[in-house]
Amino acid sequence: MTARITASVYTSHVPAIGAAIDLGKTAEPYWQPVFTGYERSKAWMTANKPDVIFLVYNDHATAFSLEIIPTFAIGCAAEFKPADEGWGPRPVPVVKGQPELAAHIAQSVILDDFDLTIVNRMDVDHGLTVPLSLMCGEPDAWPCPVIPFAVNVVQYPVPSGRRCYHLGKAIRKAVESYDEPLNVQIWGTGGMSHQLQGPRAGLINREFDNAFLDQLIADPETLSKKPHIDYIREAGSEGIELVMWLVARGAMADTPPRVVHRFYHVPASNTAVGHLILENPR
Ligand code: DHB
Ligand code: FE
Repeated sequence: MTARITASVYTSHVPAIGAAIDLGKTAEPYWQPVFTGYERSKAWMTANKPDVIFLVYNDHATAFSLEIIPTFAIGCAAEFKPADEGWGPRPVPVVKGQPELAAHIAQSVILDDFDLTIVNRMDVDHGLTVPLSLMCGEPDAWPCPVIPFAVNVVQYPVPSGRRCYHLGKAIRKAVESYDEPLNVQIWGTGGMSHQLQGPRAGLINREFDNAFLDQLIADPETLSKKPHIDYIREAGSEGIELVMWLVARGAMADTPPRVVHRFYHVPASNTAVGHLILENPR
């Protein structure tokens, strides 16, 4: 038996959500609806604990700066520390890696003509730790090893949705050629609509977001052709983070997935919080 991708998880990664958890504010009226939306997700995680999470996220000029900007970077280290983003590192567990599977995926995907950057030392910012907190709560240790996969969505030119979708397919092939019966989840994070700067700061587009969720479930192939300019115009400058969801969706089976959970909520900081859990047919 080889490794296989059993499910995919999609979620926003708002840093203020991490602060709300770390400062014990999850029951406050502003935050309570957000965390209620993830109650089912945490129960599902406990019942469906994977062996490895392949976590697609973006670094926000934390581990990388404008000096070096990898388009796609795979974390092959044994561990990744929570980054100090200006207020000290989040008080969350160190992220344990899975160097063997990461190296296998790097080899398979690079030989399939995707040029990944191999990262052997990296701190991980809210893009990675906030989704883990939302899905796993506040454990002493994360439930399983995580392979961080960073996508540049910060500095133009960022990869197209199409490229991300096809990369997901190459990741699926890599996982399915790994000779150990591991249960692998793939997570796509970031989004949904938000813009953090300029005259349109605070932009939220519920209609766009919900259409994106519908199409991600039902017709990712067509969704993958959506050009950058549509994301930026409709979902704001940071809405482009959504291309990362297409990596995870591309890694799912070609048959329709089972929708385990769908959640959408505004407000949470400056971002529309969107969340999906999709399972592959068993
Ligand atoms: C916010 C959202 C993000 O995705 C991010 O990286 C930083 C801030 C926000 O909503 O405040
Ligand atoms: Fe972000």
